[in-house]
Amino acid sequence: MTAPIYKVKVLGAELLYACPEDQTLMRAMGWSTERSVPIGCRKGACGVCRIKILSGAFETSSQASRHITVEDATQGYVLGCRTRPNSDLVIDIPAGTQALIKKSAKISA
Ligand code: FES
Repeated sequence: MTAPIYKVKVLGAELLYACPEDQTLMRAMGWSTERSVPIGCRKGACGVCRIKILSGAFETSSQASRHITVEDATQGYVLGCRTRPNSDLVIDIPAGTQALIKKSAKISA
């Protein structure tokens, strides 16, 4: 049985990509035509993939507390390499990483 596939919208970037439920947001970004978040260690250690979930359901595996504090987590901050969707999501990328978005990877809504 294949995992459900959800749509992930990047706020303010006209970027929409598909992410299977059994993949992390970062891995799915890598499979789309464009990256939208810097890719670092891919293990939850470096913190460069820090994003904010604005809406939708998700789950995370362990995240280094130096990158995601308890307060950060309550505000929706996660590490993209440690987060899987459980529904369609809307995410925000910190301002410093917005320049890395070069073009859209659109799927039908
Ligand atoms: S890529 Fe290093 S914490 Fe996600």
